[in-house]
Amino acid sequence: MSRIALISAMHEELAAVLARMPDEQKTVVAGREFWIGHWHGHEVVAVLSRIGKVAAATTATTLIERFGVSRMVFTGVAGGLAPHVNVGDVVVAREFIQHDMDASPLFPRYEVPLMGRARFPADLALTDALVAAAPVALDAMLASLPRHDWLGLDLAAARVHQGLIASGDRFVSQTAESQALQQALPEALAVEMECAAIAQVCYDYGVPLAAVRTISDRADDAAHVDFPRFIQTIASHYSVAVLDRLLAQLPA
Ligand code: ADE
Repeated sequence: MSRIALISAMHEELAAVLARMPDEQKTVVAGREFWIGHWHGHEVVAVLSRIGKVAAATTATTLIERFGVSRMVFTGVAGGLAPHVNVGDVVVAREFIQHDMDASPLFPRYEVPLMGRARFPADLALTDALVAAAPVALDAMLASLPRHDWLGLDLAAARVHQGLIASGDRFVSQTAESQALQQALPEALAVEMECAAIAQVCYDYGVPLAAVRTISDRADDAAHVDFPRFIQTIASHYSVAVLDRLLAQLPA
C-alpha cells in the first residue's frame, strides 16, 4: 500500500490530524516527530513541517528517504496577496515559487540556480482531488463551527482559489511589503514560508505533492493580530475537514 505524508504547518492542525488516527506510532528522526498510522484505510505519516524553507525541505526529504512516502499533502495557513483573496478563503496550489530567490544577474530573478526553473508544479491528479474536496469540506466545517468562532468574518462567502503560491523566509506583516510582492508577482495568490521548498524536493525525487492553504491574514499591517487569532480558532478545523474529505475519496 502507498504511504501518504500529511504535513501540517501548525501544532493545532497536527493534533487534530492525530485525533483522527486511531493507531498512530511515533518515530523521532532529525528532531522531528513522525506519526505513522491509518486514516480512511490509507497508511499515513503525519508530521509538522517546521517553519521556513530549509526546515520544511529537511522534513520533506526525511519523509521520502526514511519513511518511503509516495505522495505528500500539505495543509496550513497563508497570507492573502492577490486583492480578491480574503481571510477565510482557501487556496489550492497549482504551482509554487520562492519569492526570495534571487541569484541575478547570474540567473533570472526567481530561478533556482542549476535547475533552469523558477516555478515548481503541484501534482495534477492529487491537486484535482483536493480542489474537489475543498468546497464540500468548507461547507461541512462551517455548518459545525459555532458562530462566535467566525471572528466576525463573512465565512459563508469564503471561496476556493487555485493557482500560484509564493514561499519565502519572511513572515510578511507590512502592507508596503505585501504590495511590493503583488507587483513583482501579480499571479501569486498567497504567501507563506514552506511549500515552494517542499515542491522543489518533491520535484527532485518525483514525488507528487498537493497543498492547501487557508488565508489567515492579508500579509499586511494587521497580519500579526489576524494570524494568531485565525490559527487558534479556525485553521485546524479547515485542514482536518479537507483532509478527511480528500482521504475518504482518494483511491488507496
Ligand atoms: N503564513 C500565514 N500568514 C503569513 C504571512 N503573512 N507571511 C508569511 N507566511 C504566512
